[in-house]
Amino acid sequence: MSDSPLAELVQRLPELRLLTEPGDLEHYGRDWTRRWTPTPLAIALPSSVDEVQAIVCWANELNVALVPSGGRTGLSGGAVAANGELVLSLERMNRVLDFNAVDRTLTVQPGITLQAVHDAARGNGLLYPVDFAARGSCSIGGNIATNAGGIRVIRYGNTREWIAALKVVTGNGELLELNRGLIKNSSGYDFRQLMIGSEGTLGVVVEATLKLTDPPPLSQVMLLALPDMDALMQVFALFRSRLSLQAFEFFTDHALHHVLAHGAQRAIDGDYPYYVVTEFDAVDEKTQEIALATFEQAVEKGWVSDGVLAQSDAQAAALWRLREGITESLAPHRPYKNDVSVKVSAVPAFLHEMQALLTHEYPQIEVVWFGHIGDGNLHINVLRPDDLDEVAFVAQCDHVTRLLATTLQSHGGSISAEHGIGLVKRAYLESTRSAAEIMLMKGVRKVFDPNGILNPGKLFMDN
Ligand code: MLT
Ligand code: ZN
Repeated sequence: MSDSPLAELVQRLPELRLLTEPGDLEHYGRDWTRRWTPTPLAIALPSSVDEVQAIVCWANELNVALVPSGGRTGLSGGAVAANGELVLSLERMNRVLDFNAVDRTLTVQPGITLQAVHDAARGNGLLYPVDFAARGSCSIGGNIATNAGGIRVIRYGNTREWIAALKVVTGNGELLELNRGLIKNSSGYDFRQLMIGSEGTLGVVVEATLKLTDPPPLSQVMLLALPDMDALMQVFALFRSRLSLQAFEFFTDHALHHVLAHGAQRAIDGDYPYYVVTEFDAVDEKTQEIALATFEQAVEKGWVSDGVLAQSDAQAAALWRLREGITESLAPHRPYKNDVSVKVSAVPAFLHEMQALLTHEYPQIEVVWFGHIGDGNLHINVLRPDDLDEVAFVAQCDHVTRLLATTLQSHGGSISAEHGIGLVKRAYLESTRSAAEIMLMKGVRKVFDPNGILNPGKLFMDN
């Protein structure tokens, strides 16, 4: 055996691409949180399942922690390597392996971007419907690791609904073929679903078979300006009862301010506290008339102050940019992010309590809200004032998050709707999952990864 773990890895896998330059360690060792200093041992870029298995076996024998890594667009520190781990980047395993027209599935390697999956599905006349702003950079493996949601959950559900099969290398190097693309398979525990959302702590996804569906019907995009918070759910209920919604997203004036400063085009004159971008099926003149009548009714009721109906694809894209550009426009501020959810029926009461809490706890701090209000999912972005140092700022936000977790608990909500727990939210896991559940989760982890080499420190406080 060689005298260092890396030398041993090179000896075992001479063809493996390994990066050790400081710039690469920094690039691959962090995600979009930018909160931790990356200090990986090295970056491994395997090109085959065999190489992934060999790396996992090496990690077990030499007791080296691994951080599975996709596009690193995560917002919870789930793919951060800040403790001398080997980053296992799936970036080179990025091909489409198969399209099956009968099963309507697309089999891909984990490093493929969501955008490339969309393109491949569309190229075959079908749709992979999970979608969100990071589509060009995030990888399908990362989407699976966090059970990614996004802007079309209201119509299509989360990533979980769209996985027909997975191949996974477990923490002890075994290759599992999970569900093999079956629609019906009532044969015991569904490990495929267990892997989805496990944040790289149970196994490394090395292949995924994705379900595809019909392309969406023709649609229209509308931007609405709302006078107050209560109107949000009233407009949602009205629009949902009249139209077939593909998306219903909200943001505040603060979010609009940032996205406009970042280059987006203003679509409505005047200032309003809340905005909604909604997309709905509009297949013929009749549905378009219903949409306009619904809009007018919302105006009459005083729930909507102004609105724009996109007249072209370019205008629809411009309206969507107002919502989808928010994360990028906030990125330079490195916001502290909460990503919370409650049942849709609990949103009105929760929103009021949450607003009171945030106003009280962050009197001098800018807080930017937006999110998937139709799914009960809010993104709260807290921006550090220039005169507050990072450590004090994070301490204050952690304190508020604890209070928020209690509020969520009383509404039966979750501390992580779609970004995952990672490093950022592990201290609050017990506000959403019971002690018995967490104990079982840890037990499951021991079964799939007995030596705890897969993404240690993520999800749980102690492992
Ligand atoms: C979004 O909804 O745009 C994403 O979840 C990203 C974010 O919350 O910043
Ligand atoms: Zn989101």
